Amino acid sequence: MAAGSSMQWLRSVKGVILDMCGVLYDSGEGGGQAIHGSAEAVRRLIGSGLTVRFCTNETQNTRERFVQKLCVMGFDISVSHVFSPAPALIHILRERHLRPHLLVHDDLIPEFDSVDVSSPNCVVIGDAADNFSYQNLNEAFRVLIGLEKPLLFSLGQGRYYKETDGLKLDVGVFMKALEYACDVQAQVVGKPSAEFFQTVLSDMKLQPHEVVMIGDDLLNDIGGAQRCGMKGLQVRTGKYSQSRNVEQLILRK
Ligand SMILES: *[C@@H]1O[C@H](CO)[C@@H](O)[C@H](O)[C@H]1NC(C)=O
Ligand SMILES: *[C@@H]1O[C@H](CO)[C@@H](O)[C@H](O)[C@H]1NC(C)=O
Ligand SMILES: [Mg+2]
Repeated sequence: MAAGSSMQWLRSVKGVILDMCGVLYDSGEGGGQAIHGSAEAVRRLIGSGLTVRFCTNETQNTRERFVQKLCVMGFDISVSHVFSPAPALIHILRERHLRPHLLVHDDLIPEFDSVDVSSPNCVVIGDAADNFSYQNLNEAFRVLIGLEKPLLFSLGQGRYYKETDGLKLDVGVFMKALEYACDVQAQVVGKPSAEFFQTVLSDMKLQPHEVVMIGDDLLNDIGGAQRCGMKGLQVRTGKYSQSRNVEQLILRK
């Protein structure tokens, strides 16, 4: 961005959405480590009177546990300001009077404590990891195919990710299996979906042009935000420094 024009749009900025992994901390052995200066930067942003929210695609844990982890790293973040796919989906379920059958990681279940899961009229799939057993998948399949109008929501659509002990199949793979079996298309909740960013914007009570999204992922953070009418700023930490090659590969596809 040209330096001269930057002052113009900066004046209209009233809010900031921060990606978490790669912006606030780097994931790694022992749960990760704060990026130098980021805790202080967050304090200053909030202190300056801007409306600040946080956006992550973490779906294996409740927000409470995730925020606790960041607290230990020195961040002062309120749970209600953190947006992850599960709460965004819960918002959608409420608005549309939907009762989900859950195929998610056991550790994420408490996030759905306030949700009516009796006589389900949709299926929700998240990164269930070890809970993706044949039995659990088949149960979700049976519920889905038994619905008058099969409705499937997915918390992300990643193919695979890397953990310290190697690559892991991500939720997208299992989402595709259910899509194939029931000939439906899942509604994906989470970055970079516009619906996800809209939930955050409406909580901030701001218009897209008043908000800047700061992230390390060109597709999910910057691209997603820009398609919603927000400004996107890519940081040079996280993925930017680690995996530009991978990102370019994805862009070429
Ligand atoms: C989920 O996985 C854990 C760990 O393998 C297991 O203890 C638990 O019973 C599983 N829950 C379900 C619902 O499959
Ligand atoms: C979370 O999103 C990032 C992009 O921001 C992606 O690379 C990663 O695979 C996603 N993780 C999961 C568990 O879906
Ligand atoms: Mg990130």
